[in-house]
Order: sequence, then structure tokens, then C-alpha cells
Amino acid sequence: MNGMAASDKIFRLLDLPEAEKKTLSCPDGDIVCENLTFSYEADREILHGVDLSFPKGSFTSIVGESGCGKSTIAAVLMGRNKGYTGSVRIGDAELHEINEDSLMRQITYISHQSYLFKGTVRDNLRMGKPDAEDSELWAVLERVNLAAFLKEEQGLDTRVSEKGGNFSGGQCQRLALARALLHDSSVYIFDEATSNIDAESENDIMREIHRLAKTKTVILISHRLANVTASDRIYIMENGAVTESGTQEELLKADGVYSSLWNTQQSLENYGKDGSAA
Ligand SMILES: Nc1ncnc2c1ncn2[C@@H]1O[C@H](COP(=O)(O)OP(=O)(O)OP(=O)(O)O)[C@@H](O)[C@H]1O
Ligand SMILES: [Mg+2]
Repeated sequence: MNGMAASDKIFRLLDLPEAEKKTLSCPDGDIVCENLTFSYEADREILHGVDLSFPKGSFTSIVGESGCGKSTIAAVLMGRNKGYTGSVRIGDAELHEINEDSLMRQITYISHQSYLFKGTVRDNLRMGKPDAEDSELWAVLERVNLAAFLKEEQGLDTRVSEKGGNFSGGQCQRLALARALLHDSSVYIFDEATSNIDAESENDIMREIHRLAKTKTVILISHRLANVTASDRIYIMENGAVTESGTQEELLKADGVYSSLWNTQQSLENYGKDGSAA
């Protein structure tokens, strides 16, 4: 055997683990994080042993100030932050053993700046469900209150420019939600999906999130506490750790961080409504 052939063989062996696709498909069950730690960089741990539970079909919110690790948790669940320690179980499977395509089929992530690509409204929606009929597309557009607007334009053939530049922020998020609804996965993660958009869009989107939460596992990350009150459980995070959790009622009774945040936000939101600002 000559040298070339030998090295070919060695490289093939080295390549093998990479090429090997995970075959475990994603179970449809409870999601449970136990003692979850994660670091982007070797010397800086971001999540410090977090316990979280997202029972199948439940509505859970995560709140906490900027930089506390909320989106990092979402990225772990989406399989994007690899190399976590502790455990993240979906049903009876450990997350890092699950086939990635299967995980993507099961979990839909909607961020504050959803990615719309250059093409038509139909093209963008079909990303969520490639074989969807036009009638199905119109039905979800009605749900997100975008149908009337698009009928005034070119309907499903309306052009969408790069990153949705020709749509308002609220319209982009409504379209992204419509696409997510078409995807019909069993888990939905909304990461500040209604931040920096108009109040009407926020209300429409929150109404659909609450509706989804009746049948799906919904994880809502929001800085606006008024949006999380109906959750089965709310987690409060500080600096990469969970510090409080419970229902709105339990957390208000506990009179801790959540309760003081709630009182601050309530007085800000009501400011002026009763004439006190005058
Ligand atoms: N790709 C990355 N590489 C290195 N550090 C990161 C990366 N993404 C986030 N971080 C750091 O991890 C910490 C948590 O960030 P994360 O985005 O999870 O916060 P967050 O709670 O979602 O904040 P926000 O409410 O502002 O969205 C921050 O200190 C941030 O600087
Ligand atoms: Mg974030």
C-alpha cells in the first residue's frame, strides 16, 4: 500500500464521527433542564446551573433584565448552543443526541427580528409549510390581521424585499407569526417577539400566542410583564440563574423581585390614565 492510500484511510476514519448523522428523532414530551450550565467562552460562564421545566402543552414565561441569559436558554433549546453541561431532556431523550432536522421540526423560534427573505409573501409563508394551499395561507394571514392590508397590495404575490425592508416592524412580525403558525410544531419559543412594534400589532400577536398556548408548549420571553400574567409558570432570572418562579398570583404574594417589577411597570403603564399626570 502506498502512502497516499494510507493517509486517505486515516482521514476517512477521522471524518467518520462528523459524517455520522444523529438518528434519534425528537420526542413530543415535556422539556426539562436540570443544572444547565453554558458558556460561550471558556472563562465566562453564562448559565450557572439552571433548572427549568416546560411541561408539554403548558405556557411558560421567562423574564429578567437584559443580559441575564434568556436568549441563551432559547438557543440551547434550539440546539444552537452546543456544549452545555447538565441535562436538557425532551421526553425521554437528551437534547444533544437528537437529530437536528427533527428538533427543528418540533420547535419553532420567533425572535424580535424575524428573518424575512426577498421574494413574495407566498414564498415567505411557504417556508413554514412548503405544500400549503393559498386558502391556508389566507387563513393564517386573517389570524394575524394582515389579510386586509395584503388584499390592497398584490395579495400573496406582494413583493417582500431583503429582510422585509418594505414592511413595517409590526407587519414583519405578523408575517413571521403567520409563517410560524403554518409550521405547526409542538413547541413555540417567542423571544421578545413583540418588542419595538406598535401596540395594535403587539395585541394581535399576544392574542395568537395565548391561543397557541391552549394546545402547544409555549415559551414566552418578554420584558413586558403584562404579557406573561396568564402563564402556567413564570421564571425570573438574574445573572444566569433562576431566582423566583411561580404563577403571577404566587409571585405577587411572595413580594420579591417580580412583585416589585410588576408594581413599577403597572404604575408606569397607568401613568396619566387617571389624571394623576396632569
Ligand atoms: N454569541 C455570544 N458570544 C459571547 N457572549 C454572548 C453571546 N450571546 C450572548 N452572550 C452573552 O451572554 C449573556 C446573556 O445574553 P442573552 O442574550 O442570553 O441575554 P438576554 O437575557 O436574552 O438579554 P436581552 O433581554 O437583552 O435579550 C450576556 O452577557 C451576553 O453578553
Ligand atoms: Mg435576548
